Amino acid sequence: MPDAAAPTDASTAAPEGLWYVAAIARQVRAGSEHAEPVFGRTLRLTRDGQGVAIDASSDPIAVRESEGLIWAWLAGPEGEAPPCGPPVFNGPGGKVRFVEEALLPGPYDDAVYGLLDPAHGPYVHASPLWRSSRTLREKAKDYVPSPLGFTMLAHEPKNSAAYKLIGGGVQVEIGFQLPALRSEWISNTANKVLGLTTLTPVDANSTRIRQIFYWQSPLLSLVSPFVRPFTRGFLQQDVHIMTLRQRAAPWRLREMLIRDGDQLFIWYRRMKAEWARARASGQAFENPVRPATLRWRT
Ligand SMILES: [Fe+2]
Repeated sequence: MPDAAAPTDASTAAPEGLWYVAAIARQVRAGSEHAEPVFGRTLRLTRDGQGVAIDASSDPIAVRESEGLIWAWLAGPEGEAPPCGPPVFNGPGGKVRFVEEALLPGPYDDAVYGLLDPAHGPYVHASPLWRSSRTLREKAKDYVPSPLGFTMLAHEPKNSAAYKLIGGGVQVEIGFQLPALRSEWISNTANKVLGLTTLTPVDANSTRIRQIFYWQSPLLSLVSPFVRPFTRGFLQQDVHIMTLRQRAAPWRLREMLIRDGDQLFIWYRRMKAEWARARASGQAFENPVRPATLRWRT
């Protein structure tokens, strides 16, 4: 059933007044400059005894280092200062163990759609290591609102061999929050892994996706070099589908969003609109998401 209340004409740009991952902390080394294209400009990042700094011409963009990441704050046209620091995820060990990135063509919201579409996984990433569309089954997922997003409550993953890397009894909890930070906690009694997927606007028509992992398990450190080619292939599948999506864009007359499959993206659009409203009025953000059980076949 189409959701009549879903906005279809909203801006597809990344929301302002939020923190984005601009770089991985180890990319910025003392004694040399790291140039990073973000928000339609080039951030020139340097490191000294005080930490990471940004060249004065990038004013009013603020940068902070946290959990092995360099975050940049996207200010509005008024150039206000960030009211708080970047989000904290408490990734195990506090150190980035693994990162792969790719540049996705298309506006920010198209990349967010790829992150939230439940059909994206089985159809875009049909790798034998991951899963295939032959394993389709009916799913019911429970969601609750979080301060700036929503959380899919912990469940036992059914059809991904990749989870077996950390052993049995695995539970997965997936969070999503504005601007578009997806956190996947994979845990059992012995191990805890945090997978963080981040989207950063490079300019109006390209978005950088990063897949970042935190863990403390020595076994995972051992197998991670073998996982890398799969992750790289995985992100290239994202680039491929986004390229096709951009090619089809001229024929996309009107966006149609369908429940329950598109409910997560509908929530994202509503949260983004509410975020803009709250910022413009100086009022607190009121999360429009309500607890819900969503059903689909993936
Ligand atoms: Fe993907």
